Amino acid sequence: MVDLHSHILPGVDDGSRSFEESIEVAVAAVRDGTTIMAATPHVRDDYPTDVETMERLVSELNEILRQRRIDLQILGGAEIAIPSLLILNDDELHRLGLAGNPRYLLVEFPYLSWPFGLENEIWNFGQRGITIVLAHPERNPHIQEDPTLIEPLVEAGALVQLTAASVDGRLGRVCRKTARELIGAGHAHVIASDAHWPGLRRAGTSSAAAALHNPELARWLTHDVPAAIVDDLPIPARPRGRSRARRRLFRI
Ligand SMILES: [Fe+2]
Repeated sequence: MVDLHSHILPGVDDGSRSFEESIEVAVAAVRDGTTIMAATPHVRDDYPTDVETMERLVSELNEILRQRRIDLQILGGAEIAIPSLLILNDDELHRLGLAGNPRYLLVEFPYLSWPFGLENEIWNFGQRGITIVLAHPERNPHIQEDPTLIEPLVEAGALVQLTAASVDGRLGRVCRKTARELIGAGHAHVIASDAHWPGLRRAGTSSAAAALHNPELARWLTHDVPAAIVDDLPIPARPRGRSRARRRLFRI
């Protein structure tokens, strides 16, 4: 599996606090079946991770994992807050591309407020050949209240990343229900761990994949789409599901 959202880099945000913790996250991810992980430290007011630090830590962590024979490849990236997205320069945006691909940016969906104007920004970035990947919108109360609010953002060109812990219920029933509705409506494209440190949100996406009870769709969300982003290939078509009436993504 390919995990496109993690806070595995040490000492830059609310994720891992040391290389030892980063290694613990990496070991857990490998045990769970992850082979590639994008490091996506926060880039926002309280954690203004700079590009050089991200790049340096990615190469240092890869070297440590290689020395310890831990079979996980770390790629670069960032989880960029909307206000930061609008002030980063072109070189920074290029180097903060998701999984090292400058044609994708992971953007943190607000936890409380509604992101007015985001639809226009998604469209504007699309005009520049950059696809915005929205990080965990299922955790936003407005989306929880009305999941169809995501539609104009997806129609403007965004992809949607759900957090594995939302999909499998670790973040509670509301997040699980919202994630299920977004998947059922075809408005979700990626499931990622958003792993922080060993005590906060475990690494891996296998339990979310299992919770879908649809192996083909689970593979598309946890491997096929993220791998296409890593390899800069076209996003593969979503597997054709069963009819809506028969579709049972979750055991109720
Ligand atoms: Fe995150």
